[in-house]
Parts: sequence; structure tokens; C-alpha cells
Amino acid sequence: MSQKSVLVTGAGGFIGFHLVNYLKNRGYKVRAVDIKDPEYQASSADEFRILDLREIDDCREAVRGMDEVYNLAADMGGIGYISGAHASITYNNTMISAQMLKAAHDAKVERFLFSSSACVYPQHLQDVPSVVPLKEEDAFPADPEPGYGLEKLYTEKLCQYFTEDYGFQTRLVRFHNVYGPLGTYDGGKEKAPAAICRKIARAKSGDTIEVWGDGKQTRSFMYIDDCVEGIYRIMRSDYSRPLNLGTDELVDVSGLVDIIAEIAGKTILKRFNTNRPQGVRGRNSDNSRLREVLGWEPLIHLRQGLIPTYAWIEGQVTAGGAERQAVIEPIPRVAAQ
Ligand code: NAD
Ligand code: GDD
Repeated sequence: MSQKSVLVTGAGGFIGFHLVNYLKNRGYKVRAVDIKDPEYQASSADEFRILDLREIDDCREAVRGMDEVYNLAADMGGIGYISGAHASITYNNTMISAQMLKAAHDAKVERFLFSSSACVYPQHLQDVPSVVPLKEEDAFPADPEPGYGLEKLYTEKLCQYFTEDYGFQTRLVRFHNVYGPLGTYDGGKEKAPAAICRKIARAKSGDTIEVWGDGKQTRSFMYIDDCVEGIYRIMRSDYSRPLNLGTDELVDVSGLVDIIAEIAGKTILKRFNTNRPQGVRGRNSDNSRLREVLGWEPLIHLRQGLIPTYAWIEGQVTAGGAERQAVIEPIPRVAAQ
């Protein structure tokens, strides 16, 4: 068991919360930082500090005495959110990312992991549902998702320059759409799996729910347990170039609704609304490099991961769901080396 001290920023959010649990289970001393407390449960971190990482003094306080930094803090949401607030998202994330990197380097942190996104990939490579899976080198020539994706791509480069010029150890992870229990499911920042779980949990069998787009757009979705396992393995690797972290199980949005309806045991009708945000037409992860570097890739199938996700969201929105969610077994996973 390691006694290293590690910082997780964004630990009041979805992935950061789960990552803190994972690292605690592996014996790390964990400092958690966020601008807000976790929404649904108390953090298992050794200390939880409320700081605003757009401020350099707060970044310096966050990294003080830390051996490693997992920088997950960001102004972030599903396609409805990130396509509607370019100025604030780009400004907030630029300030957080650049200053956390600088503060971590100045504090002589050993390793710094930056949470990037599949939104860095060029939009013209994602304009059909039967999309060719995206390889890391496809990111240039650049044409990323405006605002949010542009900042992620720029910060990847900034990390790379710190590695090249100063020998600072950075790790760059491009997440593909992550879902699971304790993920935002309402309020405007939710992504498709959680939004659809919520709509179906609130519906009666035979009801119609609104689905954004025509339902033919495609994505791959990664369960949170695979996500934190992959983050940890990438941090421990010696690979400092960008890496996809996602599954290559492609599904269209209409199919996603069908899987969740079947898990819920409800007949659900769909009203497609093409006036709502849709993002890219198709997106999938090419995991060749991930397999090459780690000898591992996300393993949990979509249907398998949606069972506990739906149970948790149902528990949040309906009476009685909470009891059912309590009996759901964790999905077995392969331990990291
Ligand atoms: P999240 O919104 O649940 O968590 C992000 C956390 O960052 C939030 O708790 C938020 O309060 C915190 N934060 C925002 N501004 C801050 C500030 N100024 N100071 C301190 N904390 C601040 O999102 P998540 O899904 O857990 O995402 C974590 C990281 O992974 C983000 O960098 C995100 O861009 C990236 N990512 C996530 C996905 C996904 O599908 N969830 C996909 C691609 C990339
Ligand atoms: N959010 C949401 N809510 N999306 C819906 C809904 C709904 O009720 N119904 C259908 N969709 C469709 C959207 O129109 C989109 O085409 C698809 O589901 C996926 O939407 P999101 O999950 O919101 O986002 P995304 O996949 O386009 O982008 C997300 O993943 C990136 C990484 O792969 C975002 O969360 C980005 O921030 C993230 O970086």
C-alpha cells in the first residue's frame, strides 16, 4: 500500500468523487478540493477543502505538500450545457487548468494528470453515425468542439510543453462520455445516459419521453468504475502523450433509450426533438493505443453499467427506488497492477 499524498481536484463532482474512493481503497492519503461540497454523499478523502481554482493562490494552497495531482476540476456538463455557455466555460477552464499546472510544477509535484475530453477531436471526423473510431493523432489539424473542447486541446499542449521544456511529468486522458451512479442527472448539466434514466424513471409504462435529436446519432459510453481504473493505470504508466479512455461499444441514442427502458421494465415511446442540442453526429473511441500502453481497456458493457446507474437515479427520483438500489451488487472489475 502506498502512503503517497495525492490531490484530487473536482472531488465534489462525479468522477472526482469516485476517484477519491478508489485512491483511498489503494491506501493513498487523499486531499480533495472543489468549489463546492459533493452533492449526494460525503467524501471519503482525508481532507476536503473548498477552494476556487481559478485563483492562483488557491491553486498553490491546494497542491502544497502533494506528491501527485489528479486535476479533474472543470466547468463541465452534457452537450446542452457546453454548447450554451462558451465564454464562461472557456474562461473558467483556462484559468483552472493553466494555474493548476503552474502551481503543481512550482510545488515540485511528481506527476500531474489532466482530464481532457473526446471533445478535442475535429468535428468533421464525427459527421456520420457510422463514425470511424477516433485515434489520438486525429486531433490535429484541429477543429475541436467550440469553447470546452478548444480549451482541453490547448491545455493538453501546455502540459506537453511543460514536459518537454521542464521535464515535468504529465498524463493526458481523453475521456469519452462517462456515466454511473452519483453522476449529475438533472439541473441542465446532465449527459444523455443520466438524462434518459431520469426521464424513464419519472415515466409510467406507455408514456412518451422527449429525446434530443433524431435518435440516430451515436456515442460510446464508459462506466465510472472503468473510468477510475483507467485514470489510475494511466497515472502509473510512463506514457505522457494523450490517450483515449472510453469504450468502443457504439450505440445510437434511440438504442440507448431502448436499453434503459428494458432495464426499467417499462414500455417507453420516443418523441424526437431536433431543435435540442445534438453535438457531433457520431463519436467512438479507438483503443489501439490504450491497449498498447496499458495492456488494458474499459471492460464493462453498456447494459451492465446502466443497471446500477438506472437504479441509483430511480432511487433519487422515486420513492421505493432507494430500497431496490441498496441490493445492487458492484460490477466485478480487474484490479490494477
Ligand atoms: P463534474 O462537473 O461532476 O465535476 C467537476 C467538478 O469541478 C465540479 O464538482 C465543480 O464544482 C468543480 N469545479 C468547477 N469549477 C471549479 C473551480 N473554479 N474550483 C474548484 N473546483 C471547480 O464533472 P465530471 O464528469 O466529474 O468531470 C471531471 C473532469 O473530466 C472534467 O475535467 C471534465 O471536463 C472531464 N471530462 C468528463 C467527461 C464525462 O463524461 N463526465 C467527459 C470528458 C471529460
Ligand atoms: N444531455 C442530453 N439530454 N442529451 C440527450 C438527451 C437528453 O435528454 N436526449 C438525447 N440526447 C443526445 C444529445 O442530443 C447528443 O446527441 C447525445 O445524446 C449525447 O449527449 P451528451 O451526453 O449530453 O453529450 P455528448 O456525448 O455530445 O458530449 C459529452 O461527452 C463528452 C466526452 O465524450 C459531454 O459531456 C462533453 O462535455 C464531454 O466532453
